Parts: sequence; structure tokens; C-alpha cells
Amino acid sequence: MYRNHTCGELTLANVDNIVILAGWVQKVRKLGGGMTFVDLRDRYGITQLAFNRSVDEELYEQANKLGREFVLQVTGKVQERESKNPNNPTGDIEIIVSEMVILNASDTPPFTIEDETDGGDDLRMKYRYLDLRRNIVRGNLELRHKIAFETRRYLDERNFLEVETPVLIGSTPEGARDFIVPSRMNPGEFYALPQSPQLFKQLLMVSGFDRYFQIVKCFRDEDLRADRQPEFTQIDCEMSFVKQEDVLEMFEGMTRHLFKKIKGIDLPAFPRMTYEHAMKYYGSDKPDTRFGMEFVEIKDLTIGKDFVVFDSSEYVGAICAKGAATYTRKQIDKLTDYVKRPQIGAKGLVYVRCEEDGTLKSSVDKFYDQDTLKLWAERCKAEPGDLILIICGETEKAQKQLCELRLEVGEQLGLRDKNTFSCLWVVDFPLLEKDEELGRYFAKHHPFTSPKEEDFALLDSNPGAVRANAYDMVINGVEVGGGSVRIYNSQLQNKIFSVLGFSEEKAQAQFGFLMNAFKYGAPPHAGLAFGLDRLVSLFAGLDSIRDCIAFPKNTSGRDMMIDAPSTVEQEQLDELHLKVTIIDKT
Ligand code: AMO
Repeated sequence: MYRNHTCGELTLANVDNIVILAGWVQKVRKLGGGMTFVDLRDRYGITQLAFNRSVDEELYEQANKLGREFVLQVTGKVQERESKNPNNPTGDIEIIVSEMVILNASDTPPFTIEDETDGGDDLRMKYRYLDLRRNIVRGNLELRHKIAFETRRYLDERNFLEVETPVLIGSTPEGARDFIVPSRMNPGEFYALPQSPQLFKQLLMVSGFDRYFQIVKCFRDEDLRADRQPEFTQIDCEMSFVKQEDVLEMFEGMTRHLFKKIKGIDLPAFPRMTYEHAMKYYGSDKPDTRFGMEFVEIKDLTIGKDFVVFDSSEYVGAICAKGAATYTRKQIDKLTDYVKRPQIGAKGLVYVRCEEDGTLKSSVDKFYDQDTLKLWAERCKAEPGDLILIICGETEKAQKQLCELRLEVGEQLGLRDKNTFSCLWVVDFPLLEKDEELGRYFAKHHPFTSPKEEDFALLDSNPGAVRANAYDMVINGVEVGGGSVRIYNSQLQNKIFSVLGFSEEKAQAQFGFLMNAFKYGAPPHAGLAFGLDRLVSLFAGLDSIRDCIAFPKNTSGRDMMIDAPSTVEQEQLDELHLKVTIIDKT
């Protein structure tokens, strides 16, 4: 027996027990005067080992030679500690070691394996297996396991079947770039890794599976951000004989189940917000509703006062930052710089400070008198002590900029608390998105998303205005999941393909198998997929989904630990009938 207890469980109740523990040396503390303490760590916690020269000189000498991360097995007696550590669950006791086996020695690790480590990002990623020994990182993976486990339990109890779908497939129409894999047996042909199991889950509905789910790896060759990885995990779901409302109810239920089981939080019902409303009042289809500060349009109150910047703008929008009139000029200048960064691209920022004495002090005093500013303040529901911030420009762009400003100010005012959760459904997304450069429409979600029945007529006259039966679940400004009611009628599907500019041959070549399957009795169906990584990072309050993935990629899509991607031997390429020519795109 390597051990009969873990390093996280012994308490005063175990005093005088003889125990066997195994784990890693976290720290050796030589107190002098013949006493050395060793912190022994395993997955479950840390237990203090005590070595007393006067009890066993040989063991004491051995302990003094231990290095960090040595792997030990120790046998000893549990004893009450003289100076207890209330921050450690095992802090009341220590082990008087009587036998010690060094199971393995260790090189000195390149960074300290503690909550506050001295290791930088790159170093920790290179030695991720050591980083994973840290409590914080391991805790995130434990949480991930729990969420996946509770998800399976919830769905299993409701008759969902987990079915695996293939990883080597053809290209899926999800809109991102595919990762492709050459086929040795079919020279010149390639598989694609799935961006999602979308088509397969719809086929499973045709097969009568009725309720499907899968916790599944998906692959997208996109530029990486804090909430994006090239391989990530979806909780992918599909249901037959359901309407949108049934799907929303089922998965709102699942989310509430997870919050209750894992965080002990009872969430209220999720509000529904139309896409149109979200864009108008938050400038985003994933609004952070932990705080208000909704957009207020004031263009009509600004015109005709010779302020060309506003007069020539399609949109003038304001937000009211409660209690922020205390912002100094320097702070406002910093906010201005923030929105003027190229990533945001605003031309400037106008402010109105609502002073405590009722006067309004603005950066455009030259053009607007107190009476006009008062009208702005009234519309913004601003009170003395508040700060109104205004951005103008072309509507869509200005709203996006105002969105960034709102989030930044919300952050600065402490309104985006990681322990507050504000969930909602964003519904009625547009069906199509126009690529102005290419002059054609693309499916906003995917080409199998059904249009709203009441908008059918617009498909010919004004396709851009057609709304879809598509929905996203948004928590704290993060899109954690999304899906749609699917088209199951071939005629309507053909119509959508034609609006999307797919010739019949192209549609047949890309989705022929799905269209054929739909000829054999496709049931009405709908579904959605959650991003598991995003869900876990929200639960854990992380800034990046990387921290809840065991072996993540860095922002250049590299695995620093195994150093992938890498070149391969010419022999391997020969087998694949490939010759590599790097084309310089610069
Ligand atoms: P969608 O593309 O919206 O829908 O993806 C569903 C959810 O997956 C998560 N997600 C990601 N997470 C991490 N890194 C990424 N690169 C990444 N891309 C997406 C998001 C998102 O909400 N087949 C459809 C679903 C359906 O219609 O049923 C789909 O994949 O949380």
C-alpha cells in the first residue's frame, strides 16, 4: 500500500493514528535546533511532516537533503501541532515521521509551485504539467469535471443520449476557417476537423434519436482571444418535435441546475432580449447586464448649434455613469485615449459633468448652453454627481465604441463583479449578414437556421431584415451558448440556399447528404451548443478560458509544451503525396 490517507484529510480526530502518506515536497523548513518541517502535497492538500533530530538522527539528516518536488512515501504518527495553521484544513496536526522512502528525486522546478507563483505565462505553459500541480489550476479542472458531470446527469435524466460523431469529416459551414487533414489513402483529398457536429446532430434527428447531446471537441482556425481557443469543447445538443420555447426552457433549466449544484446559487428566470434591443441599448449582441448604463440617443437634442462633429454624425449616443462626476480631467482624458485606441477607433469623447450644485459642465460648453445640456441630462436620467459620456459617428460603429466605453467604465466603477451572475437570452437574431465587400449575404448562424414565419415575405424584398429563430445565452457579457430552430422543409432550405447565393450544384456538393436525408422524413428539430470552456471560466471567475483547459494553446495557436505545430519528415509527406511550398504572403 503506497498510502492509506491523503494529504488533505487528517485532523485532530486522527491524533495518535499511524498513517502512510505519499506526495510531493512543497517546502522544506529547517528550523535549526534539530527540527525540520516538510510540507507534503498531493491533489487533496498539504500535510506537515516533522523530523526531530533527537528522535531519529538519520531521518532528520535525510529530510534536510530533500529538494522541492521530490516524491515521498512516509509513515508516521499523527500529532497535535503546537503552532496551528488555521488557513490549512490539516493545520491542526503534523506527522512525526518514522519511515521515509524517496520514491523519486526531482530537478529543481523552473518556478514555484504555489498559488502565487514566480513563473511567467510562457514558462508555465512550457511546463504545464508542473503548473497543473498548483491548487488554482487543478481547482479549475476539478470544476470543469463537475460541470461536465452535472451536465451529463441533467441531460441523462431527461432522456438525452450522448452520441459520438466523427472527427475526420468534410468542411462544415460554420463560418470560421477549417483545420484540414490530408488523406493518405485518397491523394490530394483532405478531411476537415469539425467546427461543430452541426450536420451530424441534425442527421441524428432524422434517425429518430430525438434528444441528443455530446460533450465534444470542436476545431476552428480563428484568431485567438481570451475567450477563444482553436480547439475547444461544446456541450452540443439537439431535440426533435420542439419549438424554440422548449429549447430555451430545457437549457435555461440546465444552466440553473449547474449554478445551483455547483455554486449554490438560485438564479431568477432569464429575461429575453431581442437582438435589436441589445444592439440599440448595449451596442452588442452579448450585453453585460450586471449593470445598467444603457445607451441614450440624443442626436435630436444636439443639432443646429453649430457643433459640426455632432451635426455631421448619423448617431450621437450617451451613457450615464452614476456617481462618476468625481472623475478628474486626467481620468476623462484616459478614457478618451482608451476609446481612441485603434482597436476601438472612436474619434473622440464628449462629457457632461453634473456638478453637485446642479450646473452642467461639458467639454462642448462653447456650443451648448445650460438649457440644452439640461435636456440631455434629463433624457439620460442624470442627477447631480453623475457623468454623461457621449460618442458619435456612423450608427453601428459608434454603438460598438460606446459598448466598449460602457464596459470599461462599468469595470472602473466596480460594476462587473465576478461573483454576480446576470443571465439572459438574446433572441430574434437577423437571419443573414451582408458582406458589403463581396456584396452578398451570409448566414449569421448557419444556413439551416429557420427564418421567422412572419418574415418569410421579406426573403425576396429585403433579406437583410429577416429575423431568425436563433438565440444565444449570454452571461455577464459572454456568449456561453447559441443555437436555432432548424429548417426541415426542403423547399424552404432551397430558398435559403438561393438567397445565400449557392447554386444548386454547390449546395448539393456541400450539403447534399443532409438535403438527401431530409427527403426521408426529417422531424421538426432545434438545438444549441454551449461553450464548456466559457461556462467553466465564468464559474471560476477567470479572465481567459486557457486557465480551465488542461493543455491549452497560446495566442499564436502553439502548444508550448510539446512544441506543436511542427515540421514533419519528408517521408511522412511523401506518404501523403504532399510537397510543401511556403508561399510568402507579405
Ligand atoms: P456557435 O458557433 O455559436 O454555434 O458555438 C457555440 C458556442 O461555442 C462556444 N465557442 C467557442 N468557445 C471557445 N473557443 C472558440 N473558438 C469558440 N467558438 C465558439 C461559444 C458559442 O456560444 N453548431 C452551432 C450550435 C447550434 O446551432 O446548435 C454552433 O457551433 O460559447
